[in-house]
Amino acid sequence: MWCVVPAAGRGLRVGGDRPKQYLPIAGRLLIEHTLDRLARHPGIAGLMVVLSPGDELWPGLSSLRGKPVQTTAGGAERCDSVLAGLRALSPGVGEAEHVLVHDAARPCVRLDDISRLIELAGAGEGGLLGAPLRDTLKRADEVGRSALTEPRDRRWRAFTPQMFRRGALSEALREASRRGVTVSDEAMAMELAGHAPLLVEGAEDNIKVTTAADFALAEFLLGRTAP
Ligand code: C5P
Repeated sequence: MWCVVPAAGRGLRVGGDRPKQYLPIAGRLLIEHTLDRLARHPGIAGLMVVLSPGDELWPGLSSLRGKPVQTTAGGAERCDSVLAGLRALSPGVGEAEHVLVHDAARPCVRLDDISRLIELAGAGEGGLLGAPLRDTLKRADEVGRSALTEPRDRRWRAFTPQMFRRGALSEALREASRRGVTVSDEAMAMELAGHAPLLVEGAEDNIKVTTAADFALAEFLLGRTAP
């Protein structure tokens, strides 16, 4: 199965002068950690990395652990980048075949979580890794006061990888784009298209590195967790 890796974000919130995926962490670039984890998984056949047009920082990998690494240019929104990645896959990857989508910015994903996702979500309409919400959730008013407490039951945080059939996911993302809906993950596009992706609980250390604090945590986790 191929994995599309959107890496076309500007990602400057973490600090520094370059997108977060190109910051060094624990001995190599953040994106190299992510790609290496994915390439280690026996169920993943190749990686399609989506870069921002004119990206000059990409380390130019063409294979990893014997698996092909290809690149294509992304778009303005994450959804455009994922669509570009799906389009760039070889015609040999059928419309009915499953593909994974994994954020370049999640280097700490665990291989056994990827295995569980493939096993559980591969049987149905697809699914995603996530974790049930543990904190109390507040809705803020316009001036930052707590206006409402949202019920916590059945609320999940959504991670990646997310896994869907190539054709169904492409269609769902195109439809969301046609309707002008900004989808923040693939599962949201699938929900809008009437599907019900399976939520597969994964380790909470599969963080999306966004801030300087996340960066420090990822550095610690990369040193600690077995992939
Ligand atoms: O910005 P955010 O952290 O939500 O991005 C999640 C992932 O999507 C990152 O790996 C980022 O590089 C990617 N992305 C992309 N194209 C965009 C925006 C984000 O590939 N236009």
